[in-house]
Amino acid sequence: MNNPALDSDSDGEVAVSLGGVRRCYALDGGRSLVALAGVDLSIARGSVVAITGPSGSGKSTLLHVIGALEVPDEGRVVVDGQDLRDLSRRELADHRRRLGFVFQGFHLLPALSVADNVIAPVLPVKTAFDKRARSLELLTAVGLEGRARSLPSRLSGGQQQRVAIARALINAPALVLADEPTGNLDSVTGAEIIELLVGLRARDGVTVVIATHDLGVAERCDRVVALRDGRVVADIDVATCADLPAAIAAAMRRPPGE
Ligand SMILES: Nc1ncnc2c1ncn2[C@@H]1O[C@H](COP(=O)(O)OP(=O)(O)O)[C@@H](O)[C@H]1O
Ligand SMILES: [Mg+2]
Repeated sequence: MNNPALDSDSDGEVAVSLGGVRRCYALDGGRSLVALAGVDLSIARGSVVAITGPSGSGKSTLLHVIGALEVPDEGRVVVDGQDLRDLSRRELADHRRRLGFVFQGFHLLPALSVADNVIAPVLPVKTAFDKRARSLELLTAVGLEGRARSLPSRLSGGQQQRVAIARALINAPALVLADEPTGNLDSVTGAEIIELLVGLRARDGVTVVIATHDLGVAERCDRVVALRDGRVVADIDVATCADLPAAIAAAMRRPPGE
């Protein structure tokens, strides 16, 4: 199904492709830290991909370069057939607006109602749709139709993450990027959030990329890409993998460069 070898940038079935992506951070004393050490990756449209790996392996950085929140030092990031290097600042801003971001910490605005939080990303722009109607529609889709007027502080963590997902969907994104979306949730609530994210693919053919170090989350995805020290060390088709935890553990143990 999601065979990376069959994909190419010009292929309409490819949502995201990265070629030789490096991202370094300057440290004190002139040293630099390599967060992404040459990542090649192709993500099929409508697939749900987990990016896994230990803390510091580059998962967030990978999501940030796909979302144009960070610019790689080297390499190519192509989203929806567009090489991000070719885009102007304004076009990059449009690119970011077309994506849905979901973060571990929810990042809701505490003074705004739930419905206004969902609308917040499109407040400064004109939209073809009715913002309030769409917000209520999305809140219904995430099971929060009764809470539109509540403040976020009145909601549980799982409910707040549902609001964050509704907010991420306000522009009907073709690509949703979620960074440890279950990291602050108990396992039952986390599982519900993952079902919601996985369900997006079935509903609208949305591509979903989830950074997670939770194996339970990875198992619900179509594909697991494991990172270690900023490199892809495993790329696993979940449906055909007999023992996902063992496959990921083996990739993490393999000596570098193999
Ligand atoms: N703004 C930054 N400045 C310096 N180092 C950073 C910065 N952001 C991330 N890093 C480093 O880059 C590496 C990868 O980080 P990150 O992508 O956040 O990993 P993960 O999400 O897998 O935990 C880590 O070593 C981290 O400390
Ligand atoms: Mg991270």
